[in-house]
Amino acid sequence: MLTTNYTAQNLIEWYKKEKRDLPFRHTKNPYKIWISEIMLQQTKVATVIPYYKKWVYDYPSIKSVAESNLDDLLKNWEGLGYYNRCRNIYSAAKIILEKHGGLLPDDYRTILSLPGFGEYTAGAVLSIAYDKPHIAIDGNVKRVISRVIGIKNLTTKNINRIKITVQKLMPLKNCGDFNQALIEIGALICSPKNPRCLKCPLSFSCKAKILNKTHQYPAPKKKKIKPHYIYVAALIWDGDYFLIRKRDNNVMLGGLWEFPGGRVQNKESIENTIEREIENQFRINTTSYNEVGCIVHSYSHFSISLHLFSFKIESKNLFSGNKTRWIKRKQINNFSFSKANHKLFTLLNRKDWNV
Ligand code: ADE
Repeated sequence: MLTTNYTAQNLIEWYKKEKRDLPFRHTKNPYKIWISEIMLQQTKVATVIPYYKKWVYDYPSIKSVAESNLDDLLKNWEGLGYYNRCRNIYSAAKIILEKHGGLLPDDYRTILSLPGFGEYTAGAVLSIAYDKPHIAIDGNVKRVISRVIGIKNLTTKNINRIKITVQKLMPLKNCGDFNQALIEIGALICSPKNPRCLKCPLSFSCKAKILNKTHQYPAPKKKKIKPHYIYVAALIWDGDYFLIRKRDNNVMLGGLWEFPGGRVQNKESIENTIEREIENQFRINTTSYNEVGCIVHSYSHFSISLHLFSFKIESKNLFSGNKTRWIKRKQINNFSFSKANHKLFTLLNRKDWNV
């Protein structure tokens, strides 16, 4: 049985002693907490740390983000993935500057209406930065509480029970420490397979632990098989220059640069795809190209094989525009590319770029 006051105080004391020393825990600046919480979504703490430090150094305030531009922000975000997070930060920063005097709102409804804020992020930022009593329940915390109160299936109804349980435990102050204690237990102790219950401040009131059945709580989700798609990309040379294209803002990896190309359709050959895509996009008719090689990349919901072809043309002035650029190799670092495209660069570095 969880006794409200005692449990919360116990968690907060435990957190103060055991918490990891992380850069975003040295501040209560709402803007910095916001950036850290967005970066931490679906991303490991160790990956986030260098990105977080560079971001708050380059952009010390919401105003500096709002007055920046998406290309520069995406360059900072390059490699962190889930790029819509970065686009949402930019959109939200502009709204905050225009409507809220550059200060992150401290009320739940308003903050939830900003781009990129869901229940979790709103609760985390409000509790950590403003000490407001809002819950912040991520996937790890769901697992912790499902074990403590003995919930097997994470149905909508049961997730509500988890939220109510945590809300009832919420203390009057140190709300951010309370939420982060649960986050910390989820990340460090109450792991899916081998929880370290001896170290857990909740183990005495944990149903799954008492039954010795932590591995059954919560019941594992059925794994969906990820589809695999075949893509092609083109390295189009004119002299020392090659062509890159910017992805539209409203699609996956929007705003990033890449080699032009596209997806192989059902029953289509990869050769046909590269010819079709290049003809459609640039009106270049070619049958003379080399296959450079192929990389494999996994996204959250699907994976791809990406075949790279290279060929030469003599008419680069034909298509320069807002969304295309002819660049030299040494200019690669001036643009933000997706991870899959960086894998193609690595492939080229292992071979000879002028394939
Ligand atoms: N993951 C999400 N939020 C976090 C936080 N505040 N501390 C550590 N890991 C987190």
